[in-house]
Amino acid sequence: MKVSIILAAGEGTRMKSKTPKVLHEILGAPMLKYVIDSSKRSDVEKICVIIGHKADEIKNYFQDEDVLFRVQPMGEDEPYGTGFAVKQAVGDFDDNDTVVVLNGDTPLIREQTLDGFLQFHEQGHFSCTILTADLKDPTGYGRIVRDDDAKIVKIVEQKDASEKEKLIREINSGIFAFNGGDLKRALESLDTDNAQGELYLTDVVKILVSEKKKIGGFKLRDKREILGVNNREHLSNCTEIMKERVNKKFMENGVTLIDPNNTYIEPSVEIGFDTIIYPGAIIQGNTTIGENCKIYGTTRIIDSEIKDNIVIDNTLIEESIIGSNTKVGPYAHIRPNSNIGENAKVGNFVEIKNSNFGNGSKASHLAYIGDADVGENVNIGCGVIFVNYDGKNKFRTTVSNNAFIGSNSNLVAPVEVEEYGYVAAGSTITKNVKEGQLSIERSIQKNIDGWVEKKNLK
Ligand code: UD1
Ligand code: CA
Repeated sequence: MKVSIILAAGEGTRMKSKTPKVLHEILGAPMLKYVIDSSKRSDVEKICVIIGHKADEIKNYFQDEDVLFRVQPMGEDEPYGTGFAVKQAVGDFDDNDTVVVLNGDTPLIREQTLDGFLQFHEQGHFSCTILTADLKDPTGYGRIVRDDDAKIVKIVEQKDASEKEKLIREINSGIFAFNGGDLKRALESLDTDNAQGELYLTDVVKILVSEKKKIGGFKLRDKREILGVNNREHLSNCTEIMKERVNKKFMENGVTLIDPNNTYIEPSVEIGFDTIIYPGAIIQGNTTIGENCKIYGTTRIIDSEIKDNIVIDNTLIEESIIGSNTKVGPYAHIRPNSNIGENAKVGNFVEIKNSNFGNGSKASHLAYIGDADVGENVNIGCGVIFVNYDGKNKFRTTVSNNAFIGSNSNLVAPVEVEEYGYVAAGSTITKNVKEGQLSIERSIQKNIDGWVEKKNLK
């Protein structure tokens, strides 16, 4: 069996954060999620995650995930280090298993790479295989030390390296494959005799070499896959690379991104053919966008369903549905639980919350529509306010098909305007308007002749 052990117990002090390092997000998901997902999509059959620092927080986040958690004791008197972390999972693999060790802070590793790496390890009958890379700047990483025959003899950490060893550019990615039995035995011989006083997993290599075991080195071509996140700058570098990968995939699938560098789309999003996304868009979470849509400006869409042929301009849309051929924005705000129909228009500075807004209906300017059921082909004039809140409770308003709500009106909920009900501009409606009625609620206009002259205002 192939078992993966993902190390995620460390404190991550260099992040300077109250959030555990592996929960810091890359495109909307914690970095640990990417490592778990790559493991799941690879040939690995069992996944153990080692947690310690803020273990409960991590466990809670991933409670629905099909992985085992092992908790590394973090007391003052306990040892620390990657070797001690792996020790927590020795009960989870057998001597004949292949164990792959991954780091929760190395989120860009891909399943294809893992599979190739594991194949190399197994076909070469290695006791241990190290995923390595040549870096221009290897600072901070463990270095791969080879003998004159280019055979790997050990890994030396930055802090323990001699000046000569520091010149080595081949680094340890932190990703290893082991023969289960060999790993178990070698872990027993680890000591803390090093610059950091830790149990280093990397020391397993020299232990196995001393036992004359065969060590493999698998050098990666795309070095970016093994970038580790130790601080916020690394986090932003990884986000950049992940963004590039995700955006490339959208473009391959028929979506035009005018300026991919300035388009933020989370990998959980789905987008149909021929949709065009202009710079500045942020599309997040469980959002689907249909075909042939145009998304302009600093639009942000979260957990929403956008159907086909929709134009959205500079708008915030949260947990809502937008029907086909509808136009939204500029500067609209569609708040959670709204369902906008087809061929509708939600225009400049219109806010809609927890409402249904039927096919063909229009609210073109400056309106608040909250807790409402608006039917089809309704016209909501400029400045209309659905007065849904009395300071304590919220109430619903119904506006039925083909109704017309004049500009600057208030509909004080609970209230209903029936089909073909007309509300005159400037009215404050507190009583239901029946089918086909016109409702005017405002005082009669008086025009007083000669008033300015009388007051000597000229
Ligand atoms: C480690 C490697 C180094 C390698 C680098 C690659 C060791 C000793 N060094 O160094 O050779 O180049 O990764 O990124 O292994 N962790 C635990 N428990 C612990 C300590 C750490 O679970 O007690 C976890 C961390 O949460 C992290 C991973 O192990 O996910 C690596 O730990 P970190 O402290 O970042 O190791 P590096 O110094 O980067
Ligand atoms: Ca690290």
